[in-house]
Amino acid sequence: MIEKLRYILVTGGAGYIGSHTVVELINAGFTPVIIDDFRNSERFIPERLERLTNQSIVFADACCQNSEVLEALFEKYPFEGVIHFAADKAVGESVQDPLKYYDNNLSSLIAVLRMMQKYETKSLVFSSSCTVYGNPKSTTGKAIVTEDSVHLNPDSPYGNTKLIGEQILMDWSVSNPISNVVLLRYFNPIGAHPSGEIGELPQGIPNNLLPYITQTAVGIREQLTIFGNDYDTPDGTCIRDYIHVCDLANAHVASIQWLNQQTKSGVEIFNIGTGKGTSVLEMVDAFEKVTEKPLNWIYGPKRNGDIPEIFANPSKAREMLQWSSKYTVFQAIEDAWRWENNRPKV
Ligand code: WQD
Repeated sequence: MIEKLRYILVTGGAGYIGSHTVVELINAGFTPVIIDDFRNSERFIPERLERLTNQSIVFADACCQNSEVLEALFEKYPFEGVIHFAADKAVGESVQDPLKYYDNNLSSLIAVLRMMQKYETKSLVFSSSCTVYGNPKSTTGKAIVTEDSVHLNPDSPYGNTKLIGEQILMDWSVSNPISNVVLLRYFNPIGAHPSGEIGELPQGIPNNLLPYITQTAVGIREQLTIFGNDYDTPDGTCIRDYIHVCDLANAHVASIQWLNQQTKSGVEIFNIGTGKGTSVLEMVDAFEKVTEKPLNWIYGPKRNGDIPEIFANPSKAREMLQWSSKYTVFQAIEDAWRWENNRPKV
């Protein structure tokens, strides 16, 4: 008996989190179809994904707002669901060019929703972010956040596009009774696939901590600057919830599987983090222990927009999605280091 293929559209599926999710979807028996315009990825990723999964993958080189290409995919593939990653995501750039972020991030989401509605595709997993919580300590006095937090005040246009995206989806869900939506609020994704085949490919100077550390250690960057060491935290540096990208990828698979079991429509929000905070200094120390390489770093001034501390309460995902993080920060650093030493230098 020929098994019915379970097609999932993955927008932005050649990107950092998207590519790792494509691998885990295939491992779980799904057939991902990618649409990506490579604004934040490289064109060698699809062939690496095919090599890694030993499976040919349908791939459309286009933006989600290209309605002709998007419609052709919905015409051809009976998608069980959509995982929507496609968005611009640099916090600093979003402050410089907010219109680019509001235009692309919201128009892309709306284009996908219109097509889902037309083709009656039920399930959507939306890539959201812990940045929607803003600085929890300033409102609740605690750094740990749960999904029912009423204090949602992102501190960048990027974060605003995620919160507005969530609000669009809540309104859309009410108006479109067959839809079923999961919003995943990511914390800090780090690491790379253990195979060394795929990983993070920051364009230009990395904004994020771990790629800056690994690029410093291989000599691409001169020195890491730790932005601020007099925050109200145990060692004075900022604390974040760093989660292995493969754990994050598996949270998307668990979400699609959960959505496919639901009978009623609605929107569920999940924090996707480890539930553990790690400071910048602890990340540097962990890197030096894992790689046995001393890192060249200095303390520097605080970075605008940084908040002292935030980490997830991930219990809702554990209870409802039967998902929890499996990798440690040390394993993520090891995988990031392997990737840094193997990756194509773009
Ligand atoms: C982490 C810590 C920096 C670089 C990211 C994404 C955001 C969202 C949440 C998904 C901070 C410090 C960094 C450096 C440093 N993810 N740092 N020197 O700011 O928490 O936000 O995760 O939506 O999109 O940007 O992560 O890695 O930039 O910074 O000291 O060279 O590392 O000050 O305290 P952040 P980050």
